[in-house]
Amino acid sequence: MSRSRRAAAFALVIAVAALTTSCAAWKRFQYEGFDRDVWQKPDEVIALLGIGAGDRIADIGAGGGYFTFPFADAVGPTGRVYAVDVDDILIAYLDERVREERRENVVVVRGAYDDPILPDGEIDLVFLANTYHHIEDRPAYFRRVQTDLAPGGRVALVELDDRSWFPRVSGHFTAAEQIQAEMTEAGYRLAENHDVLERQSFLVFEPDE
Ligand SMILES: C[S@@+](CC[C@H](N)C(=O)[O-])C[C@H]1O[C@@H](n2cnc3c(N)ncnc32)[C@H](O)[C@@H]1O
Repeated sequence: MSRSRRAAAFALVIAVAALTTSCAAWKRFQYEGFDRDVWQKPDEVIALLGIGAGDRIADIGAGGGYFTFPFADAVGPTGRVYAVDVDDILIAYLDERVREERRENVVVVRGAYDDPILPDGEIDLVFLANTYHHIEDRPAYFRRVQTDLAPGGRVALVELDDRSWFPRVSGHFTAAEQIQAEMTEAGYRLAENHDVLERQSFLVFEPDE
């Protein structure tokens, strides 16, 4: 399909969906689409991150909880997942889902745009999927996040890059080289670079002590 036809089909899907779904469901669809597991490989992401029972994870920009709830399963009852977002509709959706599913190890947090508002020194893994490009002044933000990390804590960034058509149409991406430069400025070093996601970079950073 040509690029213009793809863009037209994409716009049509958006228009139809926007007219027929609730706001939270529509937002989730925008982030998750129809076949996300195929390219997002959540099980592989979780395995590569080595998440285990008792871990404390912050899913910043949790959205509809695509990663939040699998993380909660992985960390178990002794672990904790902080689902951070700034969007009222998604926070209400997450709160409702946590209540309905009795997810006692998930804490929904209304973050500030410049601070995820997490407990100091208690987070083993800060995780962002497709959210990095939303953060303003990223070096300052991630420098602040260092105070939230427990000893040995890491920051994992899964971010659309510019190799596929969607990021180019939507503008929602950050090149991996730019992420590395900004995280270096924020005081981190690259610990892992996983080349397993065809549409996204998957980088793991640790504080550069
Ligand atoms: C593209 S969605 C990704 C959602 C989810 N991580 C996923 O992969 O399905 C980006 C999310 O980041 C949230 N967001 C934007 N700026 C934020 C900020 N400064 N702090 C926390 N969340 C933010 C948005 O409200 C939205 O839910």
